[in-house]
Formats: sequence, structure tokens, C-alpha cells
Amino acid sequence: MKNRTHPGSDAAFARAPGRLLALCIALAAAAAAPCAMAQGADKSGREVVAATCGTCHATGEKNAPKIGDKNAWGKLAAQGLTSLTQVALKGIRDMPAHGGNPGLTDTEIERAITYMVNMSGGKWIEPTSKTKPAGPRTGQQIVQMQCAHCHEKGVDGAPKIGDTQAWIPRLKNGLEATVLSAANGHGAMPARGGLANISDAELRNAIVYMFRRAQPAGKKG
Ligand code: HEC
Ligand code: HEC
Repeated sequence: MKNRTHPGSDAAFARAPGRLLALCIALAAAAAAPCAMAQGADKSGREVVAATCGTCHATGEKNAPKIGDKNAWGKLAAQGLTSLTQVALKGIRDMPAHGGNPGLTDTEIERAITYMVNMSGGKWIEPTSKTKPAGPRTGQQIVQMQCAHCHEKGVDGAPKIGDTQAWIPRLKNGLEATVLSAANGHGAMPARGGLANISDAELRNAIVYMFRRAQPAGKKG
């Protein structure tokens, strides 16, 4: 137990769920104020690949490096995201500039590449959007929109919303460590819950919300 995370986090998480609860409530309240929905936010890598890049990269058409081909993408990944993005923006041989869709932003291209790398054995983190929404969405918004798909019913062992016993061990290394874990994803938990435009702050809100709903019935949540 020599983890050094945020002040109070280890002790609080390990021994005093009550204090953790208080901390989380405070955090959630602080983050809840601006709750404008994302406007014109960049699409996630998965969406861009489904709509555009998959046409060639899903099948390997025209010798496009096929999604899932660890060998091909491993070599590409070694070049780094910046360099791959430059190539994808300009195009190369049978690879059209912008993947053939000039409407895609640089961030969307970066995310699409990241997604394909990750579907092929990589572990990159999808870049966050440069066209930021007005403010972080609330935990409730994020959870309803995305996390609830799995966390409501506990799909594939996802800790359920409102299940204290399931959440306490998940939070034992501190909230920030849990946010990082959700950002990276692991096992059946997809990176950023499967939606790349969810910021770290929004992930934090969502986790706090899922945990906070765990407070005993009777209290308003
Ligand atoms: C019309 C088919 C097609 C579409 C659509 C397409 N690609 Fe490609 N892509 C290719 C082909 C073919 C290659 C291999 C090019 C070569 O090296 O000869 C390639 C190669 C790449 C590479 C590797 C570049 C390098 O450095 O060798 C990246 C990265 C890439 N594509 C990203 C994307 C992204 C991102 C999208 C969607 C926004 C996309 N591609 C859409 C055909 C396509
Ligand atoms: C496709 C289903 C799915 C979606 C959508 C999803 N999760 Fe998960 N999540 C899981 C599963 C399954 C686990 C348990 C993974 C394991 O520990 O093996 C999990 C675990 C977690 C954990 C615990 C991580 C840890 O280190 O123990 C956090 C935190 C989490 N999810 C947050 C979120 C947030 C926030 C969202 C919404 C933005 C979300 N999840 C959306 C399936 C999902």
C-alpha cells in the first residue's frame, strides 16, 4: 500500500467508503454546472471507420492494410500517429487523401487510425477533440447516453450502476486511476466506454455518477 495518488484517495477508498462518497458527491456537484451537449463534436474513430475507412480497410481491398492484421498495423504503428496522419491526409498510391472524405477533420482521421491500430493489437488512446464542446457533460448525461448500455444490466461483468459492493474494489486505487482505466479500457470494457469524444472530465463525472447512485435508498440521487 505505497501508492501515491491524490491526497486522501487511498485511505479513503480502502477504509472509508463514507468519505469517498462525500468526495465523489463534491466532485460531481462541482462538475455539474455547465452541461451543454456537444455540438459539432468530432466523430469517434469507430464511427469514421464504419462510415469511410472500412470500405477498404475492413476487407483489405486494393491492398489496404486490413483491420485486425497485427503484422501490417504493428509496422505502421511504429511510425507514430503524426506521421500516419500526414500520409492519410495527403493520400498515398491507392489510399485517397482523407480516405476519400474531405469533410473529415484531422482529429477524426487521427481517431480512425487509432481505432484501426487498436483493432489490430495496438493500445493507443484516441486523441481528444480540438473542437471542444462548451463544457463537460454531466455524469448522468454520459451514463444515460453510453455507459448504461452495459453498466445498467452488468453486461459481461460490468459493475452495475448502484451496486456499491461492485464499485468499491474498482475505486480502491483512487478515482484518477479508475478514470485512466476507463479511458484505456480493458477486457470487455471498451476505451472511453466506446465513445472517443468523452473527455477525461466527463469520464470522471460518469464514474462518480455510477458510484454515487450507489448511496443507500432514501437519499436523493
Ligand atoms: C478507397 C480505399 C481506401 C479508403 C476508403 C481508405 N483507405 Fe487507407 N489505405 C488504402 C490503401 C490501398 C492503402 C495502402 C497504400 C499503400 O501503401 O500503397 C492505405 C493505407 C493507409 C494507411 C497507411 C499509410 C502508410 O503510411 O503506409 C493509413 C494510416 C490509412 N490508410 C488510413 C486511412 C483512414 C484513416 C481512412 C479513413 C478516413 C482510410 N485510410 C480510408 C485504401 C483506403
Ligand atoms: C460495451 C459495454 C460497456 C460500456 C458501453 C461501458 N462499459 Fe465500463 N465496463 C464494462 C465491463 C464489461 C467492465 C468490467 C471489465 C473487467 O473488469 O473485466 C467495465 C468496467 C468499467 C470500470 C472499472 C474499470 C476498472 O479498472 O476496474 C469503469 C470505471 C467503467 N467501466 C466505466 C465506464 C464508463 C464511464 C462508461 C461510459 C462512458 C462505460 N464504462 C461504458 C463494459 C462497458
